[in-house]
Amino acid sequence: MTSFVGRRRELTEAKRLLSQTRLLTLTGVGGVGKTRLALRVAAELHRAFPDGVWLVDLASLEDPKLLPDTVATALDVSDQSARSSLEVLSAYLQDKRALLVLDNCEHLLDECATLVDTLLQTGPELRILATSRQALGVDGEWTLSVPPLSVPDLSRNQSASTLRQYDAVNLFAERAAAVLPSFRIDDRNAAAVARLCRRLEGIPLAIELAAVRLRSLSVHQILDRLDDRFQLLTGGSRTALPRQRTLRALIDWSFDLCSPEEQALWARLSIFSGGFDLDAAEAVCSDGELPPEKIFDLVAGLIDKSVLVREENGSRVRYRLLETVRQYGRERLAEIGGETELRQRHCDWYRRLAEQARAEWFGERQADWYAWLQAELPNIRIALDFSLEARYEPRAATAIAAALGMHWLGSGRLREGRHWLARALQADPEASPLRAKALWQAGKLAYFCADMAESLAWYQELSLLVATLDDPAARAYLTHFEALVALFKGDFARSVACYDEACERYRAIGDAAGVAIARSESILPASLAGDERVRALYEESLALCSAAGDRLVRSWAMWVKSSDACRRGDVREAAALARESLELKRPFNDRVGIGLCLETAAWVAAAQGQGERAARLLGVLYATVWREIDPSAADFRDRMTLHSETEAKTRRLLGDRAFPAAFAEGTRFTFEQAVAYALEETVEFASPSRPASSAALTRREMQIAELVAQGLSNKEIAAQLVIAQRTAETHVEHILRKLGFTSRTQIAAWVTERRAAPESS
Ligand SMILES: Nc1ncnc2c1ncn2[C@@H]1O[C@H](COP(=O)(O)OP(=O)(O)O)[C@@H](O)[C@H]1O
Ligand SMILES: [Mg+2]
Repeated sequence: MTSFVGRRRELTEAKRLLSQTRLLTLTGVGGVGKTRLALRVAAELHRAFPDGVWLVDLASLEDPKLLPDTVATALDVSDQSARSSLEVLSAYLQDKRALLVLDNCEHLLDECATLVDTLLQTGPELRILATSRQALGVDGEWTLSVPPLSVPDLSRNQSASTLRQYDAVNLFAERAAAVLPSFRIDDRNAAAVARLCRRLEGIPLAIELAAVRLRSLSVHQILDRLDDRFQLLTGGSRTALPRQRTLRALIDWSFDLCSPEEQALWARLSIFSGGFDLDAAEAVCSDGELPPEKIFDLVAGLIDKSVLVREENGSRVRYRLLETVRQYGRERLAEIGGETELRQRHCDWYRRLAEQARAEWFGERQADWYAWLQAELPNIRIALDFSLEARYEPRAATAIAAALGMHWLGSGRLREGRHWLARALQADPEASPLRAKALWQAGKLAYFCADMAESLAWYQELSLLVATLDDPAARAYLTHFEALVALFKGDFARSVACYDEACERYRAIGDAAGVAIARSESILPASLAGDERVRALYEESLALCSAAGDRLVRSWAMWVKSSDACRRGDVREAAALARESLELKRPFNDRVGIGLCLETAAWVAAAQGQGERAARLLGVLYATVWREIDPSAADFRDRMTLHSETEAKTRRLLGDRAFPAAFAEGTRFTFEQAVAYALEETVEFASPSRPASSAALTRREMQIAELVAQGLSNKEIAAQLVIAQRTAETHVEHILRKLGFTSRTQIAAWVTERRAAPESS
């Protein structure tokens, strides 16, 4: 990122306001520097928010319905549960001392207002910094209008050195030096620079666009040309243009200075969402007029003109249009026309890649495909949306959503996957092998979200469809689905038999991923049924994964085997497998899988007599993992048994005073810290850990704990303290969590014990 210039006053002011209000919106015209300022404020405030500072860029979000999902994803909060994303988010943020930065809210004002309002009500320690052209209009919102950078006063004679006190000049000088390393402000060009910055009204984006012109023009020449343009715009009058129009004029000028081919490309690139790579630009934006082999040079030209921003993402380079510049491109595209064909090519391109990702996903390139899909999600969403809304082959949406089945699962986006699959299945009802595939994916995602009603509905539909199709792949999916249904019903022997059959069917159609997935899933019912084939099934799964170069399926097989080891009481094997499984999952965001590995790790710690470690891991599972995910999402019944076993043993190891303390420490881990801790890496805590003594409770919570100990219900507590019942409930939930308890009786016991033996610390 380029250097940050000036803004001392605004930075101080924004930080001061944020210490007084919980919602601050930075407003101002496009290009004035709201986003840059917000990022800077967030960086400087990092230490003030022990639970984190999150940035969510909403510019590329087109479907307002996906707002809560987008925020949840940016926060890395998984969305498996049957609850709405907004509920999951509020639950996650309810006790966080965190700053949420929502960048570019202007096109989603109403939705942002609702979201912000809800989050602020449920999370008393949360603060939100928004940027938007307009205020959100939420109660309690304060706004800070971001002014342009300071510009020189023309009535005085400015020398090169006095100009340095103006931020606009400094920005110009910096950007100029980037284009022309020898550029200096000296007494010969000082007056022209001063006039130019004023002319541009100190709008950073305008200054950046003008500075790149130094490649071919002098400051004087730039100024002359701009003067001509502005004369034209104001009809010769001397009054200044409104700021939007100044910027507009600048962008117009940049546009006019592009070659016709660059102009066409600029307009076309505006349909991408959240950036794009060169391959996509070549495939989507080229046609008879703009042959693919020219795109590379044109992209380079647009980068030189500061129209495109280059971004490095791992080993790959992506490009992005600044939001204001992108919107301009969209307007131009509307004039030039051809948007529909462009969107069709965009949709086709992402469909092709989604299918390729599906084909190659089970293999060496798994992590690459994963990273690619994560980066391209905004584009994939608009392709899906276009296909469904514009009725451009709803089949394309079905194909994309179904092809991404494993990705929805492996990246913790189960809810989003279900959303798209359901829409596609509705829009494209024709009986086809593709429909069978989509039904299977929809059923599987619902199953992993523990939404059995919906899962069984898809199952029914799939079995009806299979009867009318003569499609071996569809039969394989149905058999695989039967195995899951039998597992759910507790008919383990039947489940194993169906898995065997599914493997056969997948093998017959050459679906290696299908074989490996079904094989590794079958270890679970085999283990639950006490089938002696467990080891053989496991080894076969690993062999299949190794042959393909896969990590994720292998990690699943390892977890299933580790829980089998728990069941047999083989601590060493359980520990080694859970650990390796966790390592394998690291490049992915497989939250359910990670949670399950942490369960095993906790069990292992308890079994080895490491009470503190076990209690911390239980705290993590309670507060971070299953709270985010919704326990039912991973409701393998034996997990619950294992969990209660671990908890009972850990309590016995530590006693009723040390257990809550260690548990409470675990509740303060972040997901990443939890994984690192489970892998026995050193974990650094953001906040000093508070002991789970009464000090962990606020005065109010202590008061409520006393009332709980007197046997009062939430309703009675609410009446006695004159607070809402919901508030009383929330307090009690907080108390339970902070102390690591699961019942009111435990609170009562704890209060009584404290009275008897007041804490020494
Ligand atoms: N204080 C600053 N220092 C350096 N560059 C800035 C500054 N403020 C804005 N910019 C640059 O100006 C351009 C527009 O700023 P941006 O924050 O995206 O505006 P907005 O969010 O108001 O539309 C960006 O390229 C940004 O990097
Ligand atoms: Mg912005």
